[in-house]
Amino acid sequence: MARPRSVAAIRSVVRWAPRPTDPVERRLARAASVADLRRLARRRLPRGVFDYIDGAAEDERTLAANAAAFARTAFRPRVLAGLGEVDVSASIFGVPAAYPLVLAPTGFTRIADPQGELAVARAAERAGLPYTLSTLATRSIEEVRAVSGGRLWFQVYAWRDRGLVAEMIQRAAAARYEALVLTVDTAVLGRRERDVRRGFTLPPTIGPSTLVDGALHPRWTLELLRNEPIRFANVAGRDVGDGSSPVTLSDYINSQFDPSLSWSDVEWLRTVWDGPIVVKGIQRVDDAVLAAEVGVDAVVLSNHGGRQLDGAPAPFTLVAPVADAVGGRTEIICDGGIRRGSDIVKALAAGATAAMAGRAYLYGLGAAGERGVDRVLQWFADDMARTMALLGVDAVADLDPSLLAE
Ligand code: FNR
Repeated sequence: MARPRSVAAIRSVVRWAPRPTDPVERRLARAASVADLRRLARRRLPRGVFDYIDGAAEDERTLAANAAAFARTAFRPRVLAGLGEVDVSASIFGVPAAYPLVLAPTGFTRIADPQGELAVARAAERAGLPYTLSTLATRSIEEVRAVSGGRLWFQVYAWRDRGLVAEMIQRAAAARYEALVLTVDTAVLGRRERDVRRGFTLPPTIGPSTLVDGALHPRWTLELLRNEPIRFANVAGRDVGDGSSPVTLSDYINSQFDPSLSWSDVEWLRTVWDGPIVVKGIQRVDDAVLAAEVGVDAVVLSNHGGRQLDGAPAPFTLVAPVADAVGGRTEIICDGGIRRGSDIVKALAAGATAAMAGRAYLYGLGAAGERGVDRVLQWFADDMARTMALLGVDAVADLDPSLLAE
């Protein structure tokens, strides 16, 4: 008598969850956070490639500090706030965005996935967010526009050859890019010691030091060999070198980029670009004030994700003082360490108008391709809505410093 009853009891608690048949869905079903996707990407990518994405300068103290600044700051939630439906939408340069996030420029995206920048641009459009294409992208300005009708921004570095910069800017304008982002924290390249140790080059080479790494990741290696060569697509065929022969990023940047860049160059950009100008890499309040005086449309508080000056301040710690100094005169974008939608909420509560994220989407791309990027961008939207509901706030415009404990 007892036996059938216990079988019935077991039956009542056993549920076989249907296992996705698609391998990418199966992989994604095991991930609940960006940290999970980072672990998956670590397994799927050769270590040299993963370290190029994940790593940062010297002791990686700034990399850690960027995320720690968010972790250290607690919320002060409001209860019984009579919430309406939570709306995470925002506007950036007066244009609606699904939520206040811009996808950061990341060079050489095709090493994480053969579709590279095309995959990220498509995912950004589906999510209703602007995507910033890097000068050092492995898909060109025009190729990316061809797959996306969404908001695209273009990031430039100060090449020694300013004619080349002007030409790329004209191409971006012709392809209806919306904003120009000048990155100003790269006078020389930061010392990324994981890349130094591995002798990492762009494009990655398969040689004695990387053979084992490549052999342990045959899927990645096959795709690298099967697809057209990875190049700096925006300068393909130019005499600055397009990455068709392997270079270390430091040799490339230190020979091609102009460390004498100054505020007058920002003014020069106005003469060659009609749309919004964004300066990315502001790391102190007085530079944010100078940027506002020069009339830039947005400052990106950023230390390049900790990849340049180790010891630079965490961008989140700069948001409040910069908002006090220039809030309302220029948009303030907080870049670095965003791993959850709650980080975006914190940045906005502190006074930013938007956030920017790089590695979060690259981990998604490395773990599961385009669908991995979709997943991250969907999580961010869901996280924001849930966090705001738990904070007692139903509109992005109502996020304010009283919601933060520090
Ligand atoms: C970058 N970043 C970057 N920035 C830029 O202005 N031009 C570029 O080409 C690149 N390339 C690049 C490659 C990779 C692999 C990473 C991880 C980052 C910096 C990027 O735009 C952004 O500032 C950081 O990624 C922000 O930090 P999180 O979000 O990665 O923590």
